[in-house]
Amino acid sequence: MKYNDLDLKNWKELDINVDSLWLIGARDRTGKHSNIYHGNFIPQIPNQLIRRFTKKHETVLDVFIGSGTTLFECEKLSRNCIGFDINEDILNYVKKNMPYPTDESKYEIDNCDVTNEKQFEEKINLSLKKINKKNVQLLIMHPPYLDIVKFTDKKEDLSAISDLSLFIQKFLIVIKNSLKYLENNRYFAIIIGDVYKNREVIPLSFYLLDAIKKKFRVKLKGIIVKNIEGNRGKLGKFGIWKYRALTSDYYIFKHEYILVFKKDK
Ligand SMILES: C[S@@+](CC[C@H](N)C(=O)[O-])C[C@H]1O[C@@H](n2cnc3c(N)ncnc32)[C@H](O)[C@@H]1O
Repeated sequence: MKYNDLDLKNWKELDINVDSLWLIGARDRTGKHSNIYHGNFIPQIPNQLIRRFTKKHETVLDVFIGSGTTLFECEKLSRNCIGFDINEDILNYVKKNMPYPTDESKYEIDNCDVTNEKQFEEKINLSLKKINKKNVQLLIMHPPYLDIVKFTDKKEDLSAISDLSLFIQKFLIVIKNSLKYLENNRYFAIIIGDVYKNREVIPLSFYLLDAIKKKFRVKLKGIIVKNIEGNRGKLGKFGIWKYRALTSDYYIFKHEYILVFKKDK
């Protein structure tokens, strides 16, 4: 395999999930993962993607690094990591937990509005220089799901956008900015959920998928459905949300999508 170093001699024992349905039980709370950030993803997601799509000492770029879930997995799995986020407060938290100063040549996180092309260019070039790399081998993107969770008060924050078309437009800029730095024939993943607005489902993931396919030369490699069992106590079989759903006409979101693409030459 050119893009990972999985030991295929023992392929039956490998705990790499190759199904399109990921039923992940409990959140991995080991190591530096603290689950303090509302809207973070479970460490198992970057862990699976990093091991499947990169080799040791390659570089992962996460343009919405948030509380550092991808960074801490990179550290665990001996990958380099560049992480950006618009939220300075959460970045300060992450910096405290970073493996500085011993490994500063491998990890770089910075405050950046990734929808701003000029700022992105500046920051990515600086970051790549610091870790002595020219490009990245995996791109992970876990954006806000429209304005469902508000992250900062900044107007450039994607979570300030409630309009679907504007959100797609801005997100396509983020993809354009970051795809430039992804090595050809390598992979990027978007972790995204749908939203419920004005009494109906807005399938954000489907709209985004369609827009990406129309705009970029990429191959869609997987639409993974991941459950969020265990993340939301109230969603249990007997929780209040079941009662609320029954007294209305909607279905409770239990899943999110992981869209996996390959950058075509
Ligand atoms: C869903 S969270 C990512 C959480 C992360 N995966 C984790 O595990 O902590 C989305 C992140 O996008 C950031 N964000 C929103 N708009 C942004 C922008 N324009 N530029 C950079 N980051 C942005 C938010 O601050 C937030 O931390």
